[in-house]
Amino acid sequence: MNQQKQKRSRGLIFTEQGLQKLQSTISSRESQGQLRKKHTYEELSEITGLAYNTVFKVLKRKKGVDKRTLVQFFMAFDLELTGNDYTLLDSPSKHSNKCTIKWINWDDTIDVSNFYGRTTELATLKKWLVEDRCRLITIYGMGGIGKTTLSVSLVEQIKNRFEYVLFISLKKPPLLEKVLTDITQFLSDKQMSETKLSNGIKGSFSELFNYLRSHRCLIVLDEVETVMQAGVCSGYYQEKYKNYSQLIRYMGEVSHQSCFLLITRELPKEAAILAGENMPIRLMKLNGLQPLEGQKILREKNLLGTVSEQNALIESSSANPLALKAIAQIIRTTYKGNIREFLQQDKFLCDQSKKIVVQHHTRLSLQEKEVYKQLAISPEPISLLQLQKRLSIRLSTQITILESLIKRSLVIEKEGLFICEPLLNKYFKNEILQ
Ligand SMILES: Nc1ncnc2c1ncn2[C@@H]1O[C@H](COP(=O)(O)OP(=O)(O)OP(=O)(O)O)[C@@H](O)[C@H]1O
Ligand SMILES: [Mg+2]
Repeated sequence: MNQQKQKRSRGLIFTEQGLQKLQSTISSRESQGQLRKKHTYEELSEITGLAYNTVFKVLKRKKGVDKRTLVQFFMAFDLELTGNDYTLLDSPSKHSNKCTIKWINWDDTIDVSNFYGRTTELATLKKWLVEDRCRLITIYGMGGIGKTTLSVSLVEQIKNRFEYVLFISLKKPPLLEKVLTDITQFLSDKQMSETKLSNGIKGSFSELFNYLRSHRCLIVLDEVETVMQAGVCSGYYQEKYKNYSQLIRYMGEVSHQSCFLLITRELPKEAAILAGENMPIRLMKLNGLQPLEGQKILREKNLLGTVSEQNALIESSSANPLALKAIAQIIRTTYKGNIREFLQQDKFLCDQSKKIVVQHHTRLSLQEKEVYKQLAISPEPISLLQLQKRLSIRLSTQITILESLIKRSLVIEKEGLFICEPLLNKYFKNEILQ
């Protein structure tokens, strides 16, 4: 026990927050002329009284040190070390072969063998999880864009950094109480049973956070949008799922060493409010594939077409892999694999794409539909003022609606101009306006 304690205390590193705190104090000393702009590790070693190698270790965060060293480093800059400034270094060897994985209501046969690209997204997510030790990460994006596949692929690559990985699909959303029971039973290595929560929801939260503090766990919640309300602006929960909001907020606010990965079409408002570049809560909007990766999907079906025809097809499908796969299949069977012939049939949209679009569209409020329609019929991206001229909605309401449409992954904002996702735009023009 003592030995384990000693071992643990030598494996500490600064968290992202701790390092930021230190760096901003160092920068202010530089600007006050108390420290040279391009100071060396030797100088830091002199200031802190720590060996050169120790300074290097502390700042690189690849190897752990003991708590006394971190305190000494902070004290040299008149800083006080708090619990959020340091964490245990999570070495892969520590947990390798030890990770326990469980899938709840999830299709655990998701095939990631023909998975293209997403290298930047995977590198960012790995950094957020492993180096920055984020507590809450939300990946959001339109249906079929590849959120679930990306998260499965991510977990494949980093699972040995965690003791427990739990995938929970909310496709048929259970009440929060059931989810909390599932998680705590899994983390306490108990068999699944009908055990009721003894101390109500408060008790289960505190039990859950005890586990999340003492173990490094990754909990993936997929299809989070199912607990949200349709027909009103995005980010609100259905009455019976209201307390999911509390779970998300606690995951971000309470200190622990685990991570919740939320996968959703619609960005929950707690995640949006708490997130920040220097916070352990981050957001990733997942966009379409890069053209080269989209071309690989088309190549799987042996389609005929020039690169620019392929790219036109990819762009009009928002580079959405699910839509692309479905369209490629139709081009192959109905158009003898000829992309140009398909593109000439501008009105055509396959059933799979329609399904995605309809699922998104039916969730909009009446005002959102109104704003969306204006964006869809505009041949060019439009500004707030242009939009206001066409609608009889107050500017502040209009801004709220646009924000909501962005959080639903339906509208893209670029330099003050707004456009619809091309895939949805096509449907809107062809179906709704007729
Ligand atoms: N990077 C990729 N390369 C190749 N195919 C991909 C890629 N990402 C996703 N796909 C394929 O696209 C389809 C949709 O992916 P996925 O189910 O992950 O989307 P999603 O964003 O989770 O959608 P939903 O919101 O409906 O849950 C799947 O068939 C998947 O195999
Ligand atoms: Mg999914």
